[in-house]
Amino acid sequence: MIAIDGPAGSGKSTLGTALARRLDLSTLDTGASYRAVAAEALHQGLNIHDGHAVASLVEHSTLEVGDRTIINGRDVTAEIRSDAVNTAVSIVAAHQEVRDHLVSWQRRWADEHDGGVIEGRDIGSVVFPEAAIKLYLTADPEERARRRAEEGIEGIARRDRIDSTRTASPLMAAEGSWAIDTTSLPVTQIVEMVLERLEHTEEGQ
Ligand code: CDP
Repeated sequence: MIAIDGPAGSGKSTLGTALARRLDLSTLDTGASYRAVAAEALHQGLNIHDGHAVASLVEHSTLEVGDRTIINGRDVTAEIRSDAVNTAVSIVAAHQEVRDHLVSWQRRWADEHDGGVIEGRDIGSVVFPEAAIKLYLTADPEERARRRAEEGIEGIARRDRIDSTRTASPLMAAEGSWAIDTTSLPVTQIVEMVLERLEHTEEGQ
């Protein structure tokens, strides 16, 4: 199990995909699971501020996250990157009850896939604190905004603020995590650094 956390545009998916390829592991973008729930809540016209209503929706939904993201049989792969979902997702993700259901779903996914590279906001701190290695990615705000150009600097700053200040599993560097600034490091170099660290960790066990 490899946990990758960090704010919006810090490079989690790019690194996660590259690491998974090298280690022949599956990857899970837990952000897509929160985004799918936000998309479905909007689709059904729910009040996204009502944690109980959104949690009940998750409880009664089927969810698939992979190459395509599908909720209740509806392919929302494109929709989860829309402005409406960008704006709603952090509100939906701040509800403890919603997180409880999605964290159970994420743990089941990991069981079924025999572990994997899992990225999000609370993976090393809450979902898989026992991960073999926990990475906490950062990057300069200007660079993160450049990587999320469609959303814009205000949009990602707003999400980061909500994600870091909520009471339910706020975004933070987990205990024992390794912070990596990805602003000007090529992904190939970060992959090599992580593989080397993993080898040492395994030798040390
Ligand atoms: O790709 P980016 O970092 O911009 O965002 P994402 O990983 O798709 O996550 C979208 C939103 O889902 C975040 O802003 C959080 O509000 C929420 N999220 C979360 O609360 N916990 C996670 N483990 C993953 C995402």
